[in-house]
Amino acid sequence: MPPDLRIALGPIALRNPLICGSGEHVRTLEDLTAAIDAGAAAVVGKSANESDAGRRQSDAIAWTFLEDGRREVPTAAASRSASMLNRSGLVQQPWDEWLATLAAADAYASERGAWVAASLIPADERELPRLAADAERAGLRWVELNLSAPHAGEAAPGAIERPGDPGRAGRLTAAVRGAVSGALTVKLAAEHHDVVALAAAVREAGADAVVLVGRHMGFLPDLATRRPVLGSFGGYSGAWALPLALRWVAKTRAALGPEVPLVGTNGARDGGDVARFLLAGASAVQVASSVIVEGFGALTRMLDELSAYLGAQGADARELVGAAADAVLSYEEAAVRSRG
Ligand SMILES: Cc1cc2nc3c(=O)[nH]c(=O)nc-3n(C[C@H](O)[C@H](O)[C@H](O)COP(=O)(O)O)c2cc1C
Repeated sequence: MPPDLRIALGPIALRNPLICGSGEHVRTLEDLTAAIDAGAAAVVGKSANESDAGRRQSDAIAWTFLEDGRREVPTAAASRSASMLNRSGLVQQPWDEWLATLAAADAYASERGAWVAASLIPADERELPRLAADAERAGLRWVELNLSAPHAGEAAPGAIERPGDPGRAGRLTAAVRGAVSGALTVKLAAEHHDVVALAAAVREAGADAVVLVGRHMGFLPDLATRRPVLGSFGGYSGAWALPLALRWVAKTRAALGPEVPLVGTNGARDGGDVARFLLAGASAVQVASSVIVEGFGALTRMLDELSAYLGAQGADARELVGAAADAVLSYEEAAVRSRG
């Protein structure tokens, strides 16, 4: 018997734990349906909001991959251990057109037992409930509130918000929860924030599942030009980020309990990493960089690798969730164990 990959993410029944995460690679109907065709159980569309400044931010999208020695390489040549420095923006399409694209993709996904989520980043908080209600009215069954955008500190004032205060994160979540009756996930940032407190607040405010955690910000001077690589600060991520994200997943599970559904993101590069997120307590995993480098085939590869791992373990996907997190020792307990 092949392993059973199906898994429940609160009210969302997933055909497997793999979600194509949001980013520039999922900005068109073709992108969104390609992610579904590659096997993803869900795809989160590129984040959007009502702000013109957010749209303009996409005029300056740039990224570079860095190998050992901070050597820049073209995207197609990036290895799985390469790090990425980038500037990102928001969907530039007019809002109604973008919703129509997402709704068409979700109809396609639904016929195949999969999902498409509309991702919203807060700009004007008075507009946020309207955007969420628009998405649901357009037919979307799932809204993701993106409170994780690492670029918020560099963006034009008012273009995007990334709250670090749990009270504020809870209020934004409640505003969206009040506007939609479908599935609601909330993606959180790790930088300088108490992620567990943020997760508790957004769950309390009505999130069906919590996504952990957003990317970091970085800065890299170029030795030859003595100027910043990309000319600015940028989002910074890589396979190295996996254990940092896994720790927040495990800590959040320990604090909020196994009944709160979690989604992991940041650093998964193969099926083993997807399994590691599950073992830390996630029920699903969002991947982006591997798709940017390899194309949507990365999703198929990661699912094959996950199936092979589960087959070798004789386990179904749902049996992994939290197994390592629930066995974690305090330093004191580890000391007792090593003495005894
Ligand atoms: C170029 C780029 C653009 C991204 N844009 C978004 C976005 O608009 N909304 C969002 O929620 N996450 C966005 N992300 C974050 C990804 O969805 C994902 O959570 C993150 O990259 C970590 O996963 P990875 O290690 O597989 O890349 C972006 C990531 C990258 C690299």
